[in-house]
Amino acid sequence: MKSNSELLARRQAAVARGVASATAVFADQADNASLTDVEGRRYIDFVSGIGVVATGHRHPKVMAAVERQMKRFTHTAFQVSMYESYIELAEKLNALAPFKGPAKSIFFTTGAEAIENAVKIARVATGRQAVIAFSHAFHGRTLLTSTLTGKIQPYKQRAGAPAPEIYRLPFPAEHAGVTVQDLKDALDELFLSDVEPNRVAAMIIESVQGEGGFNPVTPEVFELLRERCDQHGILLIADEIQSGLGRTGRMFAIEHSGVEPDLVAVAKALAGGFPLAGVLGRASIMDAVDPGGLGGTYGGSPLGCVAALAVLDVIREDHLLERATFIGKRIRAAIEPLIAAATGTPIANLRGVGAMIGFDVVKTRSGKEPDGAMVKRILATALKKGLLCISCGVHGETIRMLVPLTISEEDLTSGLAILASAVATPE
Ligand SMILES: Cc1ncc(COP(=O)(O)O)c(C=O)c1O
Repeated sequence: MKSNSELLARRQAAVARGVASATAVFADQADNASLTDVEGRRYIDFVSGIGVVATGHRHPKVMAAVERQMKRFTHTAFQVSMYESYIELAEKLNALAPFKGPAKSIFFTTGAEAIENAVKIARVATGRQAVIAFSHAFHGRTLLTSTLTGKIQPYKQRAGAPAPEIYRLPFPAEHAGVTVQDLKDALDELFLSDVEPNRVAAMIIESVQGEGGFNPVTPEVFELLRERCDQHGILLIADEIQSGLGRTGRMFAIEHSGVEPDLVAVAKALAGGFPLAGVLGRASIMDAVDPGGLGGTYGGSPLGCVAALAVLDVIREDHLLERATFIGKRIRAAIEPLIAAATGTPIANLRGVGAMIGFDVVKTRSGKEPDGAMVKRILATALKKGLLCISCGVHGETIRMLVPLTISEEDLTSGLAILASAVATPE
């Protein structure tokens, strides 16, 4: 039997250190919300491969669909020989689009690729160059997406010139003291000083900020952005890569606001563990790019497409939207008493939508100073007790939960109990 430490030594010798790993756990087997490492230790998984296996590790229906596909063909390149599953997935996503009117979709492999292409589509459709992103956003690690990402360390330091024509606005988050008025003022100032609105192709925003700290965009903010976009002919792109496909209790988190985006980027949970990403949008915008201008060798892989079709079935048949809302309530009920407690680690700012919930670890019970070091201790304690959980936030101060929506009652209860005890008495 291999040990985690043996594999870690090999990893350190062979793998570039730029890919960071949150734990020293090497996976051997995973089922639903359970992951077993190479030493036979079982963990309850509150990470879902960073929001990917929302339908659980190896959901039987997803596995069966992929197995069937593997017996037919695994790759043709959609640009050469097409296949029905790609079309069917586009039809199904178009029917679910969070806006009225005709929709079209296109598929890629990673989230960053979906964002790159959403921006490209928006630029071609509007004939404009500038793009507005938000503070503490995370959109990926390629040149364009890391420029859109609102965090220097570790994503862009020493990496050279950023992509041009990207502007930034503050992301309103009540607990961080950034108000809607701050956003309005910054928007007016941006249009006055830095970029004329008729040069702006798109505003891009995560419907619930993921890496930046699980901060939901409020309906008021979405309404403001939509209004300004409409006023100036700017497109609104919702990055639903972490928040989409049921995580928040709706298919897309922006649906909670009633505001309609023009383009939506999806990835992660879309194909239940297989690499697939997509952009869906208003048909007239999606068709702006000439044939050949979009795509990629692996984009919309047949294995990913059949997996995604199965994921959409599972979300409907297993009532995962309702389940997300229920799981969110359970998480809140477990964390609220810890915030109110007089002892244990001080935590605050419980927030999120549906099952996309996070909270901050702070230095003092009445204060706001983030304590990223304590988050690391809490997560290490939880791991020792058998729970996989990760952080996010500008200072690593937020503990975030991305529980598989298919988790059993027993694992949910045990996982929350481990987390609560790690917060109460970190080692
Ligand atoms: C909101 C959001 N956008 C984009 C990305 C980039 O996706 P990928 O890592 O698949 O390139 C992520 C990944 O965490 C994300 O959470």
